[in-house]
Amino acid sequence: MILRDMTEADLVAVMRIECEVHALPWTHGNFSDALRSKYLCKVYESDAHEMLGYAVLMLAVDEAELLDIAIAAPQQRKEFGRKLLEEMMVLARRHDMRRMVLEVRASNAAAIALYRRAGFSDIGLRRDYYQAENGREDAILMGREL
Ligand SMILES: CC(C)(COP(=O)(O)OP(=O)(O)OC[C@H]1O[C@@H](n2cnc3c(N)ncnc32)[C@H](O)[C@@H]1OP(=O)(O)O)[C@@H](O)C(=O)NCCC(=O)NCCS
Repeated sequence: MILRDMTEADLVAVMRIECEVHALPWTHGNFSDALRSKYLCKVYESDAHEMLGYAVLMLAVDEAELLDIAIAAPQQRKEFGRKLLEEMMVLARRHDMRRMVLEVRASNAAAIALYRRAGFSDIGLRRDYYQAENGREDAILMGREL
C-alpha cells in the first residue's frame, strides 16, 4: 500500500469515492481549498495504483483535526480504514502533534466503531450540528492523545 500527497489531479477520483460513500459529500471546491490551505491531504493507493481512499488532516499548534477519511465502497471492511487512520496518526506525531480530534455524525456507526477501536473516546457532543437528509443530526466529538 502507498500513502502519498493528494494533488488537484486526484480530485476526479477523490470526488467519485466521496460521492459514493457520503450522503452529504464535500465538494470539489472543499478539496481544492484543503490542498491550498496546506492541510495534510493524503491518498491511499494499492500497489497497482488503484485509489483505495484518502484522508485530510488539519494541523493546529499541537492538535491535529481529522477533517475527512474515506475508503472506496468496494474496498471497505478490508482493514484499509484502520491502516489509513494509523498512518495519519503517525504523520501527526511526526509533525509534533500531541492529540488528534475529529467530529463524526451520531448515525455513522462504522466510523465511530473504527475510531473507538483506534483508541479514540468521546469528548463532546454538538447538538444538531450537521445537516442531514431529514433535518439535523448531532456531531460526536472524539479525541485521543498521540
Ligand atoms: C469509516 C470507514 C473509513 C471505515 O473504513 P474500512 O476500511 O471499511 O474499515 P476497516 O475495515 O479498517 O474496519 C476497522 C474497524 O472499523 C469498524 N467498522 C468498519 N466498518 C464498519 C461497519 N460497516 N459497521 C461496523 N463497524 C465497522 C470495525 O470496528 C472494524 O474492525 P473489525 O472489522 O475488526 O470489526 C469507511 O466505512 C468509510 O469510508 N465510510 C464512509 C466515509 C465516512 O463515514 N468517513 C468518516 C467520516 S467522520
